[in-house]
Amino acid sequence: MDRLTAEKKILELRNEIDRHNRLYHVEDRPEISDQEYDQLMRELRDLEDLFPDMVTPDSPTQRVGGEPLPYFEKVVHKSPMLSLGNAFGADDLRDFDRRVKSALGNQQVRYMCELKIDGLAISLHYENGMFVRGATRGDGTVGEDITQNLRTIRSIPLRLSRPLTLEARGEAYMPKRAFEKLNKEREERGEALFANPRNSAAGSLRQLDPKIAASRQLDTFIYGLGELVGETVESHSEGLDLLESLHFKVNPERRVFDDMEDVIEFINGWTVKRPELPYEIDGMVIKVDSYAQQQELGFTAKSPRWAIAYKFPAEEAVTVLEGIEVTVGRTGAVTPTALLKPVSLAGTTVKRASLHNEDIIREKGLLIGDHVVVKKAGDIIPEIVAVLPERRTGNETPFAMPTHCPECGSELLRIDEEVALRCVNQSCPALAREGMIHFVSRQAMNIEGLGEKVIAQLFESGLIANVADLYDLHEKRDQLLQMERMGEKSVDNMLAAIEGSKENSVERLIFGLGIRLVGAKAARVLAEHFGDIDGIMNASEEELTQIDEIGPKMAASIVSYFSLPQSREIIDRLKRAGVNMIFKGARTVEGIDSPFAGKTIVLTGTLAQMSRTEAEEKIALLGGKVTGSVSKKTDIVIAGEKAGSKLEKAEKLGITVLDEAAFLALLEESKE
Ligand code: IVH
Repeated sequence: MDRLTAEKKILELRNEIDRHNRLYHVEDRPEISDQEYDQLMRELRDLEDLFPDMVTPDSPTQRVGGEPLPYFEKVVHKSPMLSLGNAFGADDLRDFDRRVKSALGNQQVRYMCELKIDGLAISLHYENGMFVRGATRGDGTVGEDITQNLRTIRSIPLRLSRPLTLEARGEAYMPKRAFEKLNKEREERGEALFANPRNSAAGSLRQLDPKIAASRQLDTFIYGLGELVGETVESHSEGLDLLESLHFKVNPERRVFDDMEDVIEFINGWTVKRPELPYEIDGMVIKVDSYAQQQELGFTAKSPRWAIAYKFPAEEAVTVLEGIEVTVGRTGAVTPTALLKPVSLAGTTVKRASLHNEDIIREKGLLIGDHVVVKKAGDIIPEIVAVLPERRTGNETPFAMPTHCPECGSELLRIDEEVALRCVNQSCPALAREGMIHFVSRQAMNIEGLGEKVIAQLFESGLIANVADLYDLHEKRDQLLQMERMGEKSVDNMLAAIEGSKENSVERLIFGLGIRLVGAKAARVLAEHFGDIDGIMNASEEELTQIDEIGPKMAASIVSYFSLPQSREIIDRLKRAGVNMIFKGARTVEGIDSPFAGKTIVLTGTLAQMSRTEAEEKIALLGGKVTGSVSKKTDIVIAGEKAGSKLEKAEKLGITVLDEAAFLALLEESKE
């Protein structure tokens, strides 16, 4: 084929493919089958192979182009990406309406009401109609350049139908079905699950390798214009219509109202219909429609005065408490877990809820067979919030906490003032098994392919009895192959992962041993201070308490652990197997992929999902350094609820601030 014909054909194919792409991914009304679409793509790819100089960045073949990035570049937003004030009920909305009208001298106001998509904010830049750059919101002022990942999202046009220069802002999200599929696959591969679609969308877009984002079926809704060059629109609703005409995906469930009472009615409707949507929403957004009025209203320090987010109450569901399972953890603590009739709640299927301890069961008066109300605490961890006694039939049965260990039968004790019952039998199989699960876990020896189920299987079949036995498993390959669901490949991967763990720096081992009170952070402090395991093993309580972060209780626990002959024997066997026993120096454990590696981080305010110590440990494990006060040297501030002066200082110094959701998303992603 000659150049001219090829060029013409290439342009035709691109237009045709763009159109079908739009029909499928934006308008949800495909005209051709997947096979026909693939055929068009193949034709285009073949032609572009013949004439490589005709490949342009907006070609549909270029959605996944690049190689993995070493890190994300920073992008300064042209105008800050603000957040919204919250309304928690109809009265808050009426107050908002009054504020708006009084500030506008009682002008007539029209409101646009939209769904508040639960994903992460993105900004998309187009120059002369070409998609040139996409970024996360970041701290509102500075975000990260995630263009490569955004290009893989099919609902984002690579080229607009007109050569406009503009910035579109919106939300990237993962539809419920894609989320369920992804978690199912991760479960099958023994990988950590994402807590909700929002975290998985954030985690996917923060991948340095665009191929991962491409595999994640992300989608977008565009909800506003950041900038528009050369044209003017008078109102937000016109802006959305323009964006729609340019083939952005704009949510159709939007409406303009003249009266706040009608807005409230519209919202009430969505409170009921919300679970039917194929994606998660966490509220509604109400915006003054006229741009002139928006301008007149202006902004507070953090958010526009012309818009507000109505937050739905945390989603709750009613289900049946089918039973209570009692499990023994690695410290011997016995915890009851509610077994629930599976129920769909805020993006996941909930089957279990922790009951923490016996007191909670008593306080709530729970009976087996009861109808219970469940919600997700902080939208992540399922929790029983209430019992519905009016739904009892008389067939419910009380639950009694066992008096003896469900695994070894020895009597359970309550130590000191603790609420939890404990199995204190040091040879209880549960302790050994759970201890091993801890040993191989990500924060400890990080041995992949050895999930809870496999450990339990190995343990029950007698192939391992303690952690040192793991390093003899390579001699038992044949027996491993006999086990259920263990093919050649999984066995070899597992053995390779065990072998690889020998190279870990020693703090992983120290943490993995499960010495009481020694968390990941303390393990690192010990490793850094002593340099190797022998130093720690032979240290006295006095020596240990000399170290800043080691208190007397922890020191006593360490000495007591290493005074046991069985502990020393395990260490000896691990040494003989070739497990590294020295501190390998400052690390970026998860490689360059960790956004915390080498960074100085300050935590402020209260985190809902984890204690401050836990957060510090996690950051330290990912190579970050946590300090107490904000200065110019601080790289990141993580701000929980009620963050005060440190947050202010950070904002003044222009330091990146992450809220808890963003922090969790980064942790989630670092686990990959
Ligand atoms: S408008 C000036 N509209 O909610 C603020 N935001 O705090 C412009 N969001 O992170 C935001 N759906 O990403 C707007 N229809 C919608 C939205 C929406 C979700 C997110 C947004 C931001 C947060 C607001």
